[in-house]
Amino acid sequence: MHKVDVIVLGAGAAGMFAAIEAGRRGRSVLVVDHARAPGEKIRISGGGRCNFTNTGIAVERFLSRNPRFALSPLRRYTAQDFIARVDSAGIGWHEKTLGQLFCDGSARQIIDMLLRDMAAAGVDLWLDCSLGAVRRIADGFEVETARGPLRASSVIVATGGKSIPKMGATGYGYRIAESFGLPIVETRPALVPLTFAEQELDWMRPLSGVSLAGRVSHGRTGFDEAVLFTHRGLSGPAILQISSYWREGEAIRLNLAPGQDVAGFLANEKKAAGRTALRTALGKLMPEKLARLIEAQTGASAPLAELPRARLDAVAARVQDWELRPVGSEGYRTAEVTLGGVDTDALDARTMAVRGVPGLFFVGEVVDVTGWLGGYNFQWAWSSGWVAGQVA
Ligand code: FDA
Repeated sequence: MHKVDVIVLGAGAAGMFAAIEAGRRGRSVLVVDHARAPGEKIRISGGGRCNFTNTGIAVERFLSRNPRFALSPLRRYTAQDFIARVDSAGIGWHEKTLGQLFCDGSARQIIDMLLRDMAAAGVDLWLDCSLGAVRRIADGFEVETARGPLRASSVIVATGGKSIPKMGATGYGYRIAESFGLPIVETRPALVPLTFAEQELDWMRPLSGVSLAGRVSHGRTGFDEAVLFTHRGLSGPAILQISSYWREGEAIRLNLAPGQDVAGFLANEKKAAGRTALRTALGKLMPEKLARLIEAQTGASAPLAELPRARLDAVAARVQDWELRPVGSEGYRTAEVTLGGVDTDALDARTMAVRGVPGLFFVGEVVDVTGWLGGYNFQWAWSSGWVAGQVA
């Protein structure tokens, strides 16, 4: 029987970070993963450059049934702490936009840093090893694995969410949580493109590839970022962000010229160049294909001089407050993260330990804490993993 102090299930961002911290405390640590390589999501993240954190980390930028839960881990291990780690590993980085920090080189550098730190902390890693049940025994836990049963006094579950099954996401962590009687907040794909009914796709498909800076909102939540038309519907950072808030049957609102007075702009254009077609005027604000579509959809195919004020106002309203009703999302196949997960009510925010089950921890995406797009989810993985690693 193989025995260690701490078994970490999952060699992703949260699991590797927790393992390093536990190993540095002198605990014997074994990380087990069914994938052939560790940190696969780190490798593909941020377009291959890993958006590893964000300078604007704030608990309001995370979704959870208990929105305050993430505060303690995020304060105890901050973005600055991770940046210092990246600096001391000699990894160059830059801020791209909105506080998002990326490697100058490759995401591989982050994985290599974690693997070096794991080796230095004496952490063992078993890859290509599937996992079975986790059971409580007298002095800790027994974990079934393809290489036989393992025993440990602590188990850290860091097996992530359900997004991108092709990369090994399984929902295993939720099943383990349920086997210990823990509540699960309903899971759903998040940071995911939204899809539309055939009726909308008829006009969206020809726009496929068109991208522009917009504001997308749902209720009081809104994001000023790029919107991208695709052959399935809408994507781009602003849409991915709002997808975490949107629910089936609800509408989202699109402002294609945020911060501008489109009604005033059209009135001025009409005065200055009345013979100009509406699409030409709109083309100064947005890609031509979109300008043509709005002209056609608002029945305003005439020179500006022939369009009454009310019609121009209706065009402005379409540009700045376009209500659209997605029918769904692209699902876990392309979602960057999973919303919901192990209910934080079952966990102690200071340690990520399960209340009432000493030695059992859940960290990272498997927990019901989901960040915005832009490095927030990795920071959650580092912070929650670090916290568990201090005590496991
Ligand atoms: P993660 O999913 O990373 O790791 C879980 C591990 O458990 C995996 O190695 C998996 O193989 C293993 N596992 C699962 N089930 C198992 C089983 N049954 N048996 C054994 N092992 C099992 N975030 C961000 O902040 N910045 C970014 O740039 C990006 N970019 C990005 C791009 C894409 C395409 C995706 C899909 C996601 C992102 N993200 C992101 C999100 C980020 O990748 C995610 O939040 C973290 O990887 C979560 O870390 P975890 O360690 O919790 O899970």
